[in-house]
Amino acid sequence: MNNVPSIKLLIVSQHATLKEALLIIDKNAQGIVFVIDEHSHLVGVLSDGDIRRLLLRGVVLTEPVMLGMQKIFVFRPVTTPSEELAKLLNERVRYIPLVDENNILVDYACLHRLHQIPIMEPSLSGNEIEYVTECIKTNWISSQGTFVRKFESIFGEYCGCSNALAVSNGTVALHLALVALNIGPGDEVIVPDLTFAASINAVLYTGATPVIVDIHPDTWTIDPAEIEKKVTPRTKAIMPVHLYGHPCHMDEIILIAQKHNLCIVEDCAEALGSMYKGKRVGAFGEVAAFSFFGNKTITTGEGGMVVFRDKETYNRAKKLRDHGMSPTKRYWHDEVGFNYRMTNMQGAIGVAQMERVDVFVAAKKHIAQTYNKSLSKIQGITLPPQAEWAFNTYWLYTLVIDPSVVIGRDELMKKLLLNGVETRQVFYPLHEMPPYKKFGLGNYPISDYVSQNGMSLPSSVGLSDQALNTITKALETVFKTRTLVLES
Ligand SMILES: Cc1ncc(COP(=O)(O)O)c(C=O)c1O
Repeated sequence: MNNVPSIKLLIVSQHATLKEALLIIDKNAQGIVFVIDEHSHLVGVLSDGDIRRLLLRGVVLTEPVMLGMQKIFVFRPVTTPSEELAKLLNERVRYIPLVDENNILVDYACLHRLHQIPIMEPSLSGNEIEYVTECIKTNWISSQGTFVRKFESIFGEYCGCSNALAVSNGTVALHLALVALNIGPGDEVIVPDLTFAASINAVLYTGATPVIVDIHPDTWTIDPAEIEKKVTPRTKAIMPVHLYGHPCHMDEIILIAQKHNLCIVEDCAEALGSMYKGKRVGAFGEVAAFSFFGNKTITTGEGGMVVFRDKETYNRAKKLRDHGMSPTKRYWHDEVGFNYRMTNMQGAIGVAQMERVDVFVAAKKHIAQTYNKSLSKIQGITLPPQAEWAFNTYWLYTLVIDPSVVIGRDELMKKLLLNGVETRQVFYPLHEMPPYKKFGLGNYPISDYVSQNGMSLPSSVGLSDQALNTITKALETVFKTRTLVLES
């Protein structure tokens, strides 16, 4: 069905050596092989744990598999309905070999064959349907209607700012923020090297010049010391991006901004609910932008929000969001604006999502704590950043695999996919990509390192403890098997 290995990669002959079986286990990344005789009859199973125990008992790896395999195990006819197999699978019975009427091994079942774990999926099980239905039933499906206003008000209150504007996505939220601050050609905006391209794209849309700086090793967010080095008389703004949910070093950034009279435009797309020294992100800059894309902490499908400290800039942005039309004289345009409006249906989803935002943030915390507990035991994994002053909401739980340990990041990602676990590599550094190269003058060692070796694990708010266990078990198995291969 999905990326899990075919039965061929899980078979070993009873006459093969334990070493050969171990190499097959390392390749299939499942921690197990099924043993067959010369007629392809299923005769046993052998796990990496069995091999480890045999080695401890003094058995050598040149011995045949049949000496160490388990002869009593769960198996079923290949005709068994999948619902029945699903009921049999649990923590202890993780694999079930399937045989035909002649006891010939033809297939196998495991939980991740039945369900792949996606990197992220939204939770829409609250009042979303009810509110969207209301939009449809009342015909308020465009940007007029009560839900957009309600969403802005609830969201503003959550962020501690009454000037919130809902827009069609997070990228235009950033663009609108910059334009409302009069940033344009001739100006420079300082951005971090490690972020999603939308951050720098928004600067480029205004005609301003982005200036790329490296990230800080403790937080993977923009490094204040590097910002200071890149300020010029043309610098107009700094764009701190609270990457993967970890807040930036705001005190230091604010000091630099005050010293040089710069604006701060916070990119909070990945950090709804995150806090810097007890205060929610979005409340530190002149302007802050959020994204509600389907994989964000709350979603409206596509969607975004801009929050403004200052009423005047907010009013200007409100006008620009609606083609620059005068609020007092309909169809009169004082300047060229945009259509960056959010629909009432998106607003309806947003209101329903905000009703559960605290549940979502708590779920993200629980996921991160569970991962941290298991993964801190694996040598060569650097856990996600967690500064002591930060409330990290772990939008995407992202770790770094030390390149000198038993398995590299890319191979690990492939092996996890073989276990039905979807993962995601960290963004490429901006300074490496063709459209942005010329804005990256300098060295970016931290961003390069995190980008090359970093990966994210499934982080959906609805991730069950069972799914978390499957993921951590798969990681542990892959590391343990590879260590065993290297030691043997
Ligand atoms: C850091 C960052 N900035 C901006 C955006 C842009 O948001 P959107 O996809 O809603 O346009 C995203 C997300 O996609 C992001 O991760």
